[in-house]
Amino acid sequence: MTAKKNKSPEALRSYRWLGPDNLRAFGHRSRLKQLGYDRDDWSGKPVIGILNTWSDINACHGHLRERAEDVKRGIWQAGGFPIELPAMSLAEPFVKPSTMLYRNFLAMEAEELLRSHPIDGAVLIGGCDKTTPGLVMGAISMGLPAIYVPAGPMLRGNWRGRPLGSGSDAWKYWDEKRAGRIGESEWSEIEGGIARSYGTCMVMGTAATMMAITEALGLALPGASSIPAPDANHPRMCSAAGRRVVEMVWENLTPQTILTPAAFDNAIRVHMALGGSTNAIIHVIAMARRAGVPLDMKRFDDISREVPVIANITPSGKYLMEDFFYAGGLRALMSTMADLLDLSCLTVTGRTLGDNIAGAQVHLPDVIHSLSVPLYREGATAVLTGNLAPRGCVMKPAAADPRFLKHRGKAIAFENYAAMAREVERDDLDVTPDHVLVLKNAGPKGGPGMPEWGQLPIPQKLLKAGVRDMVRISDARMSGTSYGACVLHVAPESFVGGPLALVQTGDEIEIDVAARRIHLHVGDDELTRRRAAWQAPPPHYTRGYGAMYSQHIGQADDGCDFDFLAGTDRIAEPEIH
Ligand code: FES
Repeated sequence: MTAKKNKSPEALRSYRWLGPDNLRAFGHRSRLKQLGYDRDDWSGKPVIGILNTWSDINACHGHLRERAEDVKRGIWQAGGFPIELPAMSLAEPFVKPSTMLYRNFLAMEAEELLRSHPIDGAVLIGGCDKTTPGLVMGAISMGLPAIYVPAGPMLRGNWRGRPLGSGSDAWKYWDEKRAGRIGESEWSEIEGGIARSYGTCMVMGTAATMMAITEALGLALPGASSIPAPDANHPRMCSAAGRRVVEMVWENLTPQTILTPAAFDNAIRVHMALGGSTNAIIHVIAMARRAGVPLDMKRFDDISREVPVIANITPSGKYLMEDFFYAGGLRALMSTMADLLDLSCLTVTGRTLGDNIAGAQVHLPDVIHSLSVPLYREGATAVLTGNLAPRGCVMKPAAADPRFLKHRGKAIAFENYAAMAREVERDDLDVTPDHVLVLKNAGPKGGPGMPEWGQLPIPQKLLKAGVRDMVRISDARMSGTSYGACVLHVAPESFVGGPLALVQTGDEIEIDVAARRIHLHVGDDELTRRRAAWQAPPPHYTRGYGAMYSQHIGQADDGCDFDFLAGTDRIAEPEIH
């Protein structure tokens, strides 16, 4: 298909760098020639920036150097000029204290890489948790035509013929090891079998959720997010994305055109149907606000009451992303729930969401259920409020033991992660399955970087007695691969004096998911007394990126964006002198 050209070659943004007959443009052209290119390579063609989050230490992105070459192939085919630009890789397992500390760093990098170079359109290649929102947030703020290429999930894990899911089975078997039910040799076999190909985590964790949400928003090619990374469909999808972005430049199809309130509602509905990661709430709010779409946590709660969970994928269900692909993938899921979606939304294909999913079918009905026989009628996500979380907190009821959905118990409060990690190993800890574990100082500023500590370990003593779930409350996040009765993202966080900071061991806490309520049963007078005695902890950083982060980071309910990056103000194009 030949793209409808809405602009002349002279109107391309890159023309300002490469076209004029002046000394500066001469310098740019001579440097491209130094790279071995000739005028025929770029003249009159859209320059496409490929933002690639490959790195040697990111196993989820181990294939992205080759995939960037596939994208380039497509760009050349369609008459564009590809420029690959490395961007921060944010390998979830390795980056400390938390990749969330750096999501906004990547968002800034993506925006400024595009702004500062002669680029007309962008291909965003990522997938490991924070790379998707980071790249997308930056691309939205820059506003050039952009297409997202998801890294894709890795193959199923395997241990003695049993499938293993990323994270989820690591937590499960770690607890079995702590309880003495498996030994070192089994544990070592699991270590070698749980991640056996490149690609992202293959449960419905944050990576799979964000890749799917971004496709549902209309920013990726149809079906792209479900393709396993090692599948030959993946490089073909990459080259198709390269071809398509060149057309998008000529059509001037920007993220702003695609990202409407209806598109975000579609994405949240898909999130709920997938039983997706709680982390997505933070990222989607941040992405929406960059696009000028007002969005808050209440919208997630409202939609979660309307949309059943139909994807039978770990941790809410039992299958893995490879099975989801064989079942028909995201197109099949969206066609199953088509009545709940706005099919008129425009996407990067230049066609509507309805066009993109036309004809899609479910091949494995136990993996993608129907709306009439869902996995859970509702409850992928619940947003609770009350005196303990005035600005809200989040829970994933579908992944919790149902008996904890209405619960009142005595708190055991930990001031920080180190204290908690120490105490839960004590055999003499005064704890029962009805206690409520509370972790403080694990939020955006307090963590710092809101680490994924929200699935607090079950105390050793209870584990040995066979307990596998209990209520846990924190201002941290939780890995999308985790499960349990974990109340997360408490806002405002304890580090800035939120009510969580005032909880003491022995206080009674009540959660009532049906009523969306969380309550600390301590009188107002006592809370006032405790507040007067509370002292703010010292800042984590006095210089560097961390100091800037601490000064400008928002709370979880606001999407944890930096105050100076949020909003839709356009920044002037750079002068070329
Ligand atoms: Fe990269 Fe899970 S570690 S997606």
